[in-house]
Amino acid sequence: MALILTREDVIKVLSMKDCMEVVEKAFVELVNGTADLPLRIPIKSPDGLSLYMPAYLKEMKALACKVVAVYKDNPARFNLPTTIGKVLLQNPETGEVICIMDGGYLTAMRTGAASGVATKYLANDKPNMIVGIYGAGVQAKAQLLAVAEARNIQIVYVCDKAIELAAKFAVEMNEQLNIEVRVATKHEQVLDSDILIAATSSPTPVFDGNLVKPGTHINGIGSHTPNARELDTELIKRSKFIGDSREACFKEAGDLMIPLQEGSITESHFYAELGEIITGKVPGRTTADEITLFKSNGLAIQDAATAKLVYDKALEQGVGKEIEL
Ligand SMILES: NC(=O)c1ccc[n+]([C@@H]2O[C@H](COP(=O)([O-])OP(=O)(O)OC[C@H]3O[C@@H](n4cnc5c(N)ncnc54)[C@H](O)[C@@H]3O)[C@@H](O)[C@H]2O)c1
Repeated sequence: MALILTREDVIKVLSMKDCMEVVEKAFVELVNGTADLPLRIPIKSPDGLSLYMPAYLKEMKALACKVVAVYKDNPARFNLPTTIGKVLLQNPETGEVICIMDGGYLTAMRTGAASGVATKYLANDKPNMIVGIYGAGVQAKAQLLAVAEARNIQIVYVCDKAIELAAKFAVEMNEQLNIEVRVATKHEQVLDSDILIAATSSPTPVFDGNLVKPGTHINGIGSHTPNARELDTELIKRSKFIGDSREACFKEAGDLMIPLQEGSITESHFYAELGEIITGKVPGRTTADEITLFKSNGLAIQDAATAKLVYDKALEQGVGKEIEL
């Protein structure tokens, strides 16, 4: 028998707080060597990119594979989300597939959760912080949920090239979080922030890295292929660079790979993996003025940990439908 969980089922049982807890543990497993994480397999088609993402977390007993597609024109052409996915969860003792769940909301939540954990360990901490967000799409919402879980947020400025989406985001997120969310009309408003999020589908830099103020923590999550980047060379040079995984950053992250190819930085600019910061193997922020940057490419360990959490919660709460496959 396999448990089938729809998007609504996943939404019902998955909270950001729980998701951040398991995603943090997954990063610890990665750095402690108890995670199997082959680099994901990408397949390009004319309209988009499909990624095949397996992982096994031994401590958590989470074995899963996600198929996820990123089709940038889906919202405009088909009224479908940009990011669509499904996850197969297996029993690590038998190999049997025990659950098939929708992976769209799960992807946004686990991506948000990684940024939330990075923010918790790397951002300055003070009351009434200001958040700036580029992108007002699906990922941006989960990014804000997670950052609000990690820090006390007073005001959010959101900027999207589609201003009507930014306006919708502001209303929705204000209702959901009870935080003032304003639509930014100038870069300066977004960049005058304590925590900055880049969560767009842009393949080229979305702001001038010279304008980021000292002390900012940045979560860069939108781009994850060698030729695409949301963050410019100047910002990379000015930042302490923490990545989700060293391997993924050097093989997938245009944000790091392009400045490397230009000769603007060397490989030693990669400071640490998030798991090394969490476990204290490498110190995180060391001064209030430094700019810290978390570069997220998205790892299958985040999916496996979150899928296991969703499955356990669904069983506990009697959510979903068992079927014989
Ligand atoms: N790092 C990860 O783990 C991870 C996970 C999922 C998705 N992603 C990536 O995140 C990106 C966003 O995904 P999504 O599902 O939110 O897509 P989405 O289409 O819902 O949102 C993207 C938004 O970015 C806006 N945008 C594009 N260029 C812009 C620019 N120059 N300035 C301001 N806004 C701009 C678009 O108008 C759109 O509203 C995609 O590239 C996706 O591949 C990364």
